[in-house]
Amino acid sequence: MRVFSAIQPSGALHVGNYLGAIKQWVDRQSSESLYCVADLHALTLQVEPADLRRNVDDLLIGLLAAGLDPEVCTLFVQSQVSYHAQLGWLLECVATHGELTRMTQFKEKAGRHQGYRVGLLTYPVLMAADILLYQTDEVPVGDDQRQHLELARTIAERFNNRFGSVFTVPVGTRPPTAARVMDLQEPTRKMSKSIDSPLGTLYVLDSPDAIARKVKKAVTDTDGDVRFDWETKPGLANLLELFAGFSDERPEEIAARYSRYGDLKRDLADLIIARLSPIAERYRALQGDPHVIDDVVRDGARKANLIAQDTYARASAAMGLRLSSPATLTA
Ligand code: AMP
Ligand code: TRP
Repeated sequence: MRVFSAIQPSGALHVGNYLGAIKQWVDRQSSESLYCVADLHALTLQVEPADLRRNVDDLLIGLLAAGLDPEVCTLFVQSQVSYHAQLGWLLECVATHGELTRMTQFKEKAGRHQGYRVGLLTYPVLMAADILLYQTDEVPVGDDQRQHLELARTIAERFNNRFGSVFTVPVGTRPPTAARVMDLQEPTRKMSKSIDSPLGTLYVLDSPDAIARKVKKAVTDTDGDVRFDWETKPGLANLLELFAGFSDERPEEIAARYSRYGDLKRDLADLIIARLSPIAERYRALQGDPHVIDDVVRDGARKANLIAQDTYARASAAMGLRLSSPATLTA
């Protein structure tokens, strides 16, 4: 069972990233799983080169601290495997303009950024290339990636029907709870790396004090009844989902144990601090040794390239391109 997923180096990791994606990656890592720092994707929103460079290293350290073990899985940086961009082009000639302009995330982000670049529109095709290069069976992601994943499946199926069976058609998997963690201050909007919400975003590296303060100040409601109900009590439902994500229980079970918001918030803050502080500790230890990531990414790029090279050769030949062997290229 081949598992692939990726994350953009676009800012500090928050608990939505952790519960929605990274925790599943860690729990399910094996020799058949590949995890990727999607630096090419991060270029879609005009980032300062020095910031991007730092974000990539910080994210790699964060993923190791969260428990990814490069002795077990493959951890690599997207731009170090040139086949992502190459297959992305081939698939741009398979996907339609209409499919891309329909993407919810594109419409949202394009609305927020004047003069957005074309990459913002074509990004789901690059994401499809990421996934399809590795003949992926399963893609563990948060809820916000569902539409992009559906498009990757459509592109794979269209390619296979037109050019012959080259790609495995992947399925997306979501965690049972906390697949869409909402902003603590605005529980109708998802927690996001790219929106500035100092009290609404819980970062994986937040201090215990900051975690306790943000959970205490999280917006709830005034009826005082502890029930799990997204429709009428989104703030509380979000806290219960967070609780469930960190404790592997069901949100309804947790709600049944409490009669006061204050008690629930106090226990939730303690639980989050207990789960995140070992990650923060490992992060600080790894930060002291920059060479750890050099070895990891070199090894990861080598392993990822071997698989990607084979799929790319098959896809390009199927489309009618002339194959050049690596020997011809370097001669
Ligand atoms: P991104 O930060 O957009 O690169 O997302 C990396 C991973 O985290 C993807 O699998 C997302 O689906 C997941 N993710 C991002 N934000 C959230 C959120 N608020 N709740 C749950 N999962 C999320
Ligand atoms: N687009 C994803 C996000 O913003 C990150 C990503 C890039 C990804 N390529 C991927 C996720 C391939 C899963 C599979 O969260």
